[in-house]
Amino acid sequence: MKELTREEQYRRLNSVEELEALYRRVKASPYRQLFHIQPVTGLLNDPNGFVRHNGKWHLFYQWCPWGAVHGLKYWYHVTSTDLVHWQNEGVCIRPDLDIDNFGAYSGSALPGRDALCLVYTGNHRDEDWTRVPNTCLVKLYDDGRTAKLPWPLFGPNPDYTEHQRDPKILFNEKRKKYYIVLGAQNQAHRGCILVYQSDNLIDGWEFAGELKVPGFEDFGSMWECPSIENISGRDVLLFCPQHIHLPRRGGAVCHSGYIIGHMDWDELTFTPDGSFHVLDFGFDTYAAECAANTMDKDCAILTAWMGLPDASCPTDEEGWQGCLTLPRELRVRGRRLIQRPIPALTSLRSRELDVSAGVLHTPCELEILIGEEDSDDEARGDFDLELFCGKAGEGGLWIHYNAHYRLITVDRSRMKIRFGEEPDDVREHLIDNPLTDMRIFIDKSSVEIFINDGDAVFTSRIFPEESERYFRIGHNANARLWSLKETVKDELII
Ligand code: FRU
Repeated sequence: MKELTREEQYRRLNSVEELEALYRRVKASPYRQLFHIQPVTGLLNDPNGFVRHNGKWHLFYQWCPWGAVHGLKYWYHVTSTDLVHWQNEGVCIRPDLDIDNFGAYSGSALPGRDALCLVYTGNHRDEDWTRVPNTCLVKLYDDGRTAKLPWPLFGPNPDYTEHQRDPKILFNEKRKKYYIVLGAQNQAHRGCILVYQSDNLIDGWEFAGELKVPGFEDFGSMWECPSIENISGRDVLLFCPQHIHLPRRGGAVCHSGYIIGHMDWDELTFTPDGSFHVLDFGFDTYAAECAANTMDKDCAILTAWMGLPDASCPTDEEGWQGCLTLPRELRVRGRRLIQRPIPALTSLRSRELDVSAGVLHTPCELEILIGEEDSDDEARGDFDLELFCGKAGEGGLWIHYNAHYRLITVDRSRMKIRFGEEPDDVREHLIDNPLTDMRIFIDKSSVEIFINDGDAVFTSRIFPEESERYFRIGHNANARLWSLKETVKDELII
């Protein structure tokens, strides 16, 4: 794709006609997803404002219309009644005021008395390109109208660098207070979280202090997309620390993860009960966003950007990039989160296919139960799976389980189209218990592998060529394969 100049990247969107030619090109891509949320054109990054409100799920994504570039960001809106079928609703927040003149950046939603309240970062830039991050509010009414507060709820905190963004708004029932937690960077260039409070949603916001997270004072250079959730009765701090290297994560330096612990709002302290865990052990997950599950308080629903900051991808040439992960049910088990595909996804199964043919008809779901080996030789408990290989089993995405170490390896270096170069094309993770099962959701350009009933997940974009459409399963497994129905209508609604 031709490189876009800064002017082109930050051009304002005025009409649907401006996008029609790009939309036609994007729609012709063999990699358009069939059951994942993806951008109508251009680039999608973080999910925002995920919430259930008046019987509907609302979800928004960071959107740059013009191409696979991080230019001027809008909030694009999609809705669903079942978390499976999604409807494009069009642009919800436009960066059309001075307070957000260079982008409506990430944020969150809270149902209010008369409307859904969306809180986001208005990314203002001066003529000399100095950034001023404002925390802003838009009300979204049931009839689709929006009203933007013309001034910020609060501006940047002068004691921190310009990296202050991604407000997560919460209402604390016990204290009858609103809180906003904000990702930030301190003057020593370390990541942290700022807490603001108010008795009122619209005004009276004041800085309450920096969140103390003992043991995490020096953990990455900026914490993006923070949130504090109560899941299965435990407090969970989710955030994306930047510029840290973690074991078995290749060259990745930005990670979406969490700490389980206890949140004390009096002391503004989150006391960890364990270490930082990566949410997803695959290649492409960032900026996870949770919605409270009003129908089952024990679990929250999570989705994330299936992508990473600063990464390029083969569809860039086609004028689009990015999609969201499937929504997952999040629960705390012991000191970890488990993630399961939401139960309603089984309604997507359309036809059971013959596994012995070894042909992948995407979109599809593969379920594998691993048999127990009746042997003392631990290596015999090893398991191999090749997805997207050639007819003779060559190449493909290689998934390997080493029973001795309980180590799962996912290796995409053998695919014909490579886009994460070595060491970024292999991911490994040690699982707690022997491998018993896998549920794998395969769309036109993604694979999500749920291991041991949600104990670990590996999510990856993948861009198979026409000849890469076979699979091979290792010896000791029982597998079932279903073709899946499409759930996204690729409609250009602005
Ligand atoms: C994370 C992020 C956020 C920011 C948004 C801009 O991917 O950098 O911190 O608000 O993307 O699109």
